[in-house]
Amino acid sequence: MSNVRFPEGFVWGGATAAYQIEGAAREDGRGPSIWDTFSRTPGAVFQGHTGDVACDHYHRYAEDVALMAELGLRAYRFSVSWPRVRPDGTGPAEPRGLDFYDRLTDALLDAGIDPIVTLYHWDLPQALEDRGGWTVRETAEHFAEYALAVHGRLGDRVRTWTTLNEPWCSAYLGYGSGVHAPGRRDAGDAFRAVHHLLLGHGLAARALRAAGAETLGITLNLADVQPADAGSAADAEAVRLVDGLHNRIFLDPLTGGGYPADVLAHVSRIVAPDFVRDGDEKLIAAPLDLLGLNYYAPTYVAGRAGGAGGDAWPGTAGTVEFLPPAGPLTDMGWSIEPAGLTRLLERVASDHPGLPLMITENGGAFPDTGLDERGGVADADRVAYLDGHLRAAHEAIARGVDLRGYLVWSVLDNFEWAEGYRKRFGIVHVDYLTQRRTPKRSARWYQEVIARNGL
Ligand code: FCB
Repeated sequence: MSNVRFPEGFVWGGATAAYQIEGAAREDGRGPSIWDTFSRTPGAVFQGHTGDVACDHYHRYAEDVALMAELGLRAYRFSVSWPRVRPDGTGPAEPRGLDFYDRLTDALLDAGIDPIVTLYHWDLPQALEDRGGWTVRETAEHFAEYALAVHGRLGDRVRTWTTLNEPWCSAYLGYGSGVHAPGRRDAGDAFRAVHHLLLGHGLAARALRAAGAETLGITLNLADVQPADAGSAADAEAVRLVDGLHNRIFLDPLTGGGYPADVLAHVSRIVAPDFVRDGDEKLIAAPLDLLGLNYYAPTYVAGRAGGAGGDAWPGTAGTVEFLPPAGPLTDMGWSIEPAGLTRLLERVASDHPGLPLMITENGGAFPDTGLDERGGVADADRVAYLDGHLRAAHEAIARGVDLRGYLVWSVLDNFEWAEGYRKRFGIVHVDYLTQRRTPKRSARWYQEVIARNGL
């Protein structure tokens, strides 16, 4: 296992998201987003942390790009803040917001780093949430208009466009379990949101394609769903249900198969799916050039009468038990199982042949307490996590998966949603008092991995 080399041209990079790093929440005409509102809701986010300042990347982007260049990153996945570009979600574009992404794009290209744009990483304009958010169809239409506005400014330089980041989280955590913005808890709304997010993707993808976008994709946090007992029929049934709600409800319509019948039947027992109109599934199936996968940990389930289920998988209470994470855990309490990444990549590749894949997020939160001899962070646990997952990715490639690249989550420590700043995923440490950036040992390790295109 010592000589692990990746294919020629394999894309090495890192990822972030606007609300998690930019700060400058009220500057240059930016409107409020659902995360501004949610983070001010008592009890919603750890110690009331907000993204108001975050990593102040809005002002320090040049320094951050220089750091990425020093580490040898070839690609950088960032998200565009919808409320910076269209402050009320629908009106005219705010040129100062677009100017920021214009400067960022130029800085990246000057540094030889390929920009990968995500159009929606969860920061919906609050004005649109006030009109129903993702539970209403209009939001999907406004998303496509906004996508075009961004493409209009960056399309001459950005080649790779992804529409949504992890619509599972936006829909089920935002509208189902309520642990993410906008914090609603209604299973029917969660399914409405799933559909309108997918529709928004389809409309935006079609519009961007017509405008000349070169590589179009979407990023999903697909789950590697495993049975507690491989020989149990009840556990296999639980896997089918959770896999349907988590994976197939997105994958199948995106790749042209429409909603799976078993998933639709399950949804119909919770809410009448009258929000799915004739022709929608065709729109959602806009051709994809790339599928982004974010992977952190596997999901183990058992089929059990009276099982607690999970709020984020509507309709699983009473039949499904989610097993608590086992083995060594990250600071998020997530288990560490690189083999899950290999399984997931192989499964997607075999179910959807011909679709190029990219790992658009993978990484680990660790307490980062140990200082090394230079006063930096000796994050051996993160190095081990990344090493294991890169070997798992390499294994998938060896078995024939068309995996094009790997983007580490995250370039910088940042605002980890409901966990605030207490969870650190960065390969670069951020001191939030001084905004000083210090590459951790994992950053130097990753720099060497990139330089030798392997482990
Ligand atoms: C993913 C999100 C990303 C980050 C990681 C840890 O679900 O896309 O913003 O929070 O988890």
